This record gives sequence, C-alpha cells and structure tokens, in this order.
Amino acid sequence: MTDATTFLDGLAEQKPDPLLELIAKFADDPRSGKVDLGVGVYRDETGRTPVMRAVKSAEHHLWETQDSKSYIGPEGDPVFLRALAMEVFGEGHGGKQVAGVQTPGGTGALRLAAELLAQQRKRKIWIGTPTWVNHHAIFSSVGLQIGNYRFFDIGKQAVLIDEMLGTLQQAAPGDAVLFQASCHNPTGAALSQQNWRDIADIVARNGLLPLFDSAYQGLGRGLQQDMAGMMTVLEAADEAMVAVSCSKSFSLYRERTGAAYLIGGSRTSLNKGVGNLASYARTSYSMPPAHGAAIVATILQNPSLRKAWSDELDSMRIRTTEIRRAVAAAFGKFRPYLAHIGNQEGMFSLLPISPDNVRRLRADHAIYMPDSGRINVAGLRIEEVGAVVEQIGPYVI
Ligand SMILES: Cc1ncc(COP(=O)(O)O)c(C=O)c1O
Repeated sequence: MTDATTFLDGLAEQKPDPLLELIAKFADDPRSGKVDLGVGVYRDETGRTPVMRAVKSAEHHLWETQDSKSYIGPEGDPVFLRALAMEVFGEGHGGKQVAGVQTPGGTGALRLAAELLAQQRKRKIWIGTPTWVNHHAIFSSVGLQIGNYRFFDIGKQAVLIDEMLGTLQQAAPGDAVLFQASCHNPTGAALSQQNWRDIADIVARNGLLPLFDSAYQGLGRGLQQDMAGMMTVLEAADEAMVAVSCSKSFSLYRERTGAAYLIGGSRTSLNKGVGNLASYARTSYSMPPAHGAAIVATILQNPSLRKAWSDELDSMRIRTTEIRRAVAAAFGKFRPYLAHIGNQEGMFSLLPISPDNVRRLRADHAIYMPDSGRINVAGLRIEEVGAVVEQIGPYVI
C-alpha cells in the first residue's frame, strides 16, 4: 500500500519568493516612518499604486458596452494586438512585419518565447547579469542552455558595454540574446543610441536572434524614446521577438496583460510562429485573460483616452525622475560614483550593499530592500529623500 501523501512529499521544497517575504515583513513592522524600497510597482507620492484615470474610464465604457464574455481564442484580441503594436513599434513598425499573441502579462510572453526557442535546443540564450530575478528561471525551466554576458558594474554604476559586446561577438549564429528595452530591472542602466547601434551591428553580423523584454515603456525617457534603442536593433535583425508587459505602463499589474510579438521576414513564417505560440497557450492556459487587454485596446483606440493615459504616464515618469535626481544628489555626497544614479532611468537602481548590511539597515532604521540592494526610487516621497539616503549612506560600500 502506498501512502497517499507520498506524491506530494516527494516534491522538491520551493523557497518562498524573497520579495513577497519582504512585503510581509514590512507589513508586520510596527515602527512608524518605515520605508519600503523593495516593491516592484510604481507608487505615487501618497504611497499608493493607483488605477489610472484612463483605465477607470475604459472600464466604465466596457461595463456599459460589453455584451459577451464568450471565449476569445488562444491568440487573444486582434484589435488589442494591433493597437499595442502601434504603440510599441510605431507607425509602419519600422518597416518590419510583425505578428503576435496576447499573453497573461509580460511573464506569459517571455514564457511563450522561451517555449518557442526550446523547440530548437541548439540555440542558446544569452542573458545579461544582473537581470530581473525571473529571467533565468523562465528560460531554464524550458531546458534552454543559458549563457551570461556581464552587463553592469555595480561598484562603478556603469554599463559594461565593451565586455557585453565582446561576449556577444562569441555567440553562435542563431543564438538568442535577451535585452531589456528600457528602464533596466534591477540596475536602471540606460544604453546610449551608439551602444544600441554597436549591438545592432553584432546582431546583424553574427545572425543573432534578439528577444526584447519591454516592461516599462514610457517610464524611462518617454513613450517613443524608450523604444528607440530596441527599434535600432530590430531594424538590423532578420528575425526577433518582443515580450511586452502592460503591467507598469498601464498600471494593470493584476489584470495580467501583455503580448508576445514576432518579427520575421515573411507572412508565412510569421503565421507559423504565431501558430506555435497559440499552440503553447492552448496547452497551458488555453487563452489569455480578456479584461486588461480590452482596457488597453479601448484606451489606445480613443484619442482622448489615449491622451489622458499618456499624460498620466508622463506625470508618473516625471515624479520618478525627480526623486531619482534627488536620490542621486544625496548619495553623491557619500560616494561620488553613486551620483550616476541620476543618469539612470525607470524606478530601479542597484546599490552596492552587502546582504548583511541590508539586514542591518532593516533592523536599525526600518528601511526595506531585497538582499540584492535593488531600490525602487518611486517608493520614496521627495521630502524624505535626504533623511532616508543619510541613513542608507553609511551601509553602502
Ligand atoms: C524586466 C521585467 N520583465 C517582465 C516583467 C513581468 O511583468 P508582468 O507582471 O507583466 O508579468 C517584469 C515585472 O516586474 C519586469 O521587471
């Protein structure tokens, strides 16, 4: 007789997500004036992650007009996919042929891209380090071989562009390379247009397959500006993939809204690619959740809602940039190289701080961040920047 619990007991123990643990610790901390720099979401000056006004209006419109909740199919809503593609790739898609499927968030899009790559295991995927914690997990979970290129020097707060280009020179033709389009998580590091041109040259020369993770469009320099580097590379590449997340740009986190786009040479090859993406969708979650995509499609198709959305996104970016500059100026007094934080973009920066000191900072001053030292500058109010940085300063290397 087998024990009924044997199956579950035989499973590997999974570590709890450290960021979720941090959120729980923060919530349990009774100290007033505690500061949460660990969150991965945008916060306004009152510490909230609000529903955007255009999103509320679109939801209202949908509530009044939506007359069915019937299935939409594994590819998702073509109207959403077309409208979002215009936003991401611009009018005319940079002269490229584009096709895609709607996905449950950016993570869903990355997972589908990983599944597609894993069909041809001779391909390796190159991932920059450090990167978003989930990247390695997603690509290794489909059994892909992973190569790393060093991307960022924390101690200098600088992109290791020469090292990165050197590693990519060694990549085999057909290998995939993961890039973050803007607002790099966790470093905030921004590549220059010249950097992107150099990357585009290697991609074209070596026949590499770029995979862009675009999760923060509009939160770095602006809606179009954030895509400029990616477009430079896409124009040079024969084929590419782009995983788009609407979680941050539309503040739709829990609605799980995103898309996986393919860029290819012909309609026939794109249709084949989309067919494969849809088939993976069918066997995992069948079809993507509809509500968030319906909101995005409603906003992007209506000029006044689109303007309200992009204005609010602008104000989120401006607030984040102001705090970033104040943080950089304050840190610069402790360590001059930390003034480079001011040249970075998006919500995140990576502090050179040991995990022990992260814990001390939490115990001594109720300032919360993950062991990696990633901070979300949008977690601060402008008036508290000076005092908080003064407390963190002595703990950084
Ligand atoms: C770089 C990066 N890619 C993708 C995602 C995934 O976003 P989503 O919540 O849409 O799955 C995130 C979320 O934090 C991210 O930071």
